[in-house]
Amino acid sequence: MTQSTSPNSPAAAPLTQDELKTQVGLAALRYVVPGEIVGVGTGSTVNKFIDALATIKDQIKGAVSSSLASTERLQAAGITVFDSNAVPRLAVYIDGADEIDGGGNMVKGGGAALTREKIVAAQSERFVCIADESKLVEKLGKFPLPVEVIPMATERIIAQFAAKGGQGKIRLRDGQPLVTDNGQYIVDVTGLEISDPLAFEAEVSQWPGVVTVGVFAFQRAQVCLLGTSSGVRTLTF
Ligand code: A5P
Repeated sequence: MTQSTSPNSPAAAPLTQDELKTQVGLAALRYVVPGEIVGVGTGSTVNKFIDALATIKDQIKGAVSSSLASTERLQAAGITVFDSNAVPRLAVYIDGADEIDGGGNMVKGGGAALTREKIVAAQSERFVCIADESKLVEKLGKFPLPVEVIPMATERIIAQFAAKGGQGKIRLRDGQPLVTDNGQYIVDVTGLEISDPLAFEAEVSQWPGVVTVGVFAFQRAQVCLLGTSSGVRTLTF
């Protein structure tokens, strides 16, 4: 991993988490390729990026979106949203993370959009992760790992995680299982040791009923713009 920092002004008061997100959302604009379609992730940090993208919307063709929520925000900002099937290759995908390690491996899916996020990341040349500094970790696994599952496989998948030392719980919203944009459930798993993200992702991805596991090692980030109180740190992997 290499890194550089664009410093904030020295006298400035410490930035709030929301301001750090705004800062990296803006910084991500320099990775947007003029005249092209940009891949757009999901979450509160990406919302800041979409707001920044709206200011240069005339310089891009549009976006491929990773969730209904981001599509709505993009369209409200006057940005054309393309079907991912209509766009074979994207130069860049910009998205947040719940955790990112020193190799660019991530845990994602806190916003339940992990499946479409992995799809758009897979069709992109470069993944630029935008996050505040609280997301940088030495080892993945502290944040409950989101896994999108087919509902009829939920209990067996929870048992498979238990055999690995993890405790899985169906994510609820208003007392009912949360249903993703793809009509499936999310299981959040705590207590896992993810020491080899690539091997972990490869193994869990082939369990029957797993739609997507929230470890992004095959689709890891090449760049991370990390919002810190001393400025935006650029990590490259
Ligand atoms: C959405 O499903 C997630 O993968 C988000 O990218 C992740 O949860 C980061 O979200 P925030 O930017 O809101 O922290």
